[in-house]
Amino acid sequence: MRNWSGSDLKLRLTLRVAAVATLCFAVISGYFLFDSDRSVRARIAAVADVAARTLELQQNKIQWLNNARAEFPDLEGVAASVMAPGLCLAFRSNGGEISQRFCGGAQTDTAAPPLAFAALYRRLFDPGRETVRPVVARGHAIGEAVVWVDPAVLTAEAWHDAGRLMAVLMIALPLLCALVYAALSRALRPTRLIRDGLERIAASDLAARLPPFDLAELSAIGDVFNQLAARLAAALADRNALTQKLILVQDEERRHLARELHDEFGQSLAAIRALAASARLTAVRDCTPLLAECDGIARTATDMMETLRGALFRLRPPDVDELGLAASLEGLIAGWNGRSRGQPRFEIVLSGSFARLPSSVNANLYRIVQEALTNAAKHAGATRVVLRLQMREAASGDGEIALAVEDDGRPGDGQSDPHGDLQVKSGMGLLGMRERVAALGGRLSFEVVQPHGTSLRVVVPVAAGAEAAAVERAA
Ligand SMILES: Nc1ncnc2c1ncn2[C@@H]1O[C@H](COP(=O)(O)OP(=O)(O)OP(=O)(O)O)[C@@H](O)[C@H]1O
Ligand SMILES: [Mg+2]
Repeated sequence: MRNWSGSDLKLRLTLRVAAVATLCFAVISGYFLFDSDRSVRARIAAVADVAARTLELQQNKIQWLNNARAEFPDLEGVAASVMAPGLCLAFRSNGGEISQRFCGGAQTDTAAPPLAFAALYRRLFDPGRETVRPVVARGHAIGEAVVWVDPAVLTAEAWHDAGRLMAVLMIALPLLCALVYAALSRALRPTRLIRDGLERIAASDLAARLPPFDLAELSAIGDVFNQLAARLAAALADRNALTQKLILVQDEERRHLARELHDEFGQSLAAIRALAASARLTAVRDCTPLLAECDGIARTATDMMETLRGALFRLRPPDVDELGLAASLEGLIAGWNGRSRGQPRFEIVLSGSFARLPSSVNANLYRIVQEALTNAAKHAGATRVVLRLQMREAASGDGEIALAVEDDGRPGDGQSDPHGDLQVKSGMGLLGMRERVAALGGRLSFEVVQPHGTSLRVVVPVAAGAEAAAVERAA
């Protein structure tokens, strides 16, 4: 019946948190990369502005002083003040040739980024892009200042920054997962109690209740669970009381029917037999051909009386309280052995004392055994049927009666459910047995036994008070 399949909630939530954290880290890393690219671009633009202004000043100075020998372009001063690893600074004339260029050397201590990262970075940021500023003298563009950064240097720097973030992720993620898992385990610990409670209810332990929980949601579930268990217990108690009443009414009705049959039908049959005997005497004297009919009437009346006696016995069992349960059951077994002539053989095994049982327990157990033996004889095709009755007494004085009717016949067409209970198409017999057991607050199971056969098991609690009352009643 138990089926706790499906993935672990704690694991599932932890994996989700890990996925969300990884996504956050990826977004943060992306933001950092964009931010550092923006600041690199701003620095390059500033350098390009300075270079263009410096070149314009140099050109203006040459023209004012008419000094054709002065060196142009001269980016050495600018390069000295702004130079950084990988940064390149150049002047490109209108014709497109680079007349001067300065490049800062790349750092060699940074690890080369993986190819996939380099390709992605190149695609997203175009790191080798040039920043160009026109150099204007006397209103004419004479060339342009060009600034760029070696893409390999930019990619390596970005990989270095991203690598640091990834290292943080590597340390933080398992830590985060462990913390989330531990917090969830703690928060969900009460669900184990709820599951245990449900299992107890499923096993008919209606006294199961849940304690209050810290979490409001679980506390609400606990309250509903407790209310349901209380209502179920009350409904079951009502049903048991009603069933008990029905059984009493049914037994009373059977007694009434038996009385009527005995007093009316039985008397009439006896009268028919007497009349048949008297008619026979007359026939012997006056009309011998009627002798056969008279004998036939007497035989039929005798057969009907036999049948009636059997029906009366079934309708009104011996007074179990008076005889005692053990003696009544022994009588029942003897009756079956007499009728079946060893096919099947009925046996009884008693253990414990059954002298002090309440009359409701006596009467119901007798009826249950009566139906179980009838079923074994009717359906099982068994060679041996054993009735076991055991009184188990606890130290507290309370006890229980365990009853079993086992046969070695066919188990019928029923299928066993996951509890091992044989599921058969219930007739009035099994239904009545279940009702009687429920009315006594006991348990009934009907199982297949190996290698073949079935076993009907009933356990009925007997409270110490109930026994004492029975003793008083008997006194
Ligand atoms: N000892 C048994 N061995 C094999 N099958 C059994 C046994 N007892 C009961 N059964 C199966 O369980 C079914 C239900 O039994 P139940 O006593 O409720 O009804 P019934 O005996 O068929 O009819 P009723 O008792 O109402 O006259 C039976 O029809 C039979 O298939
Ligand atoms: Mg039956």
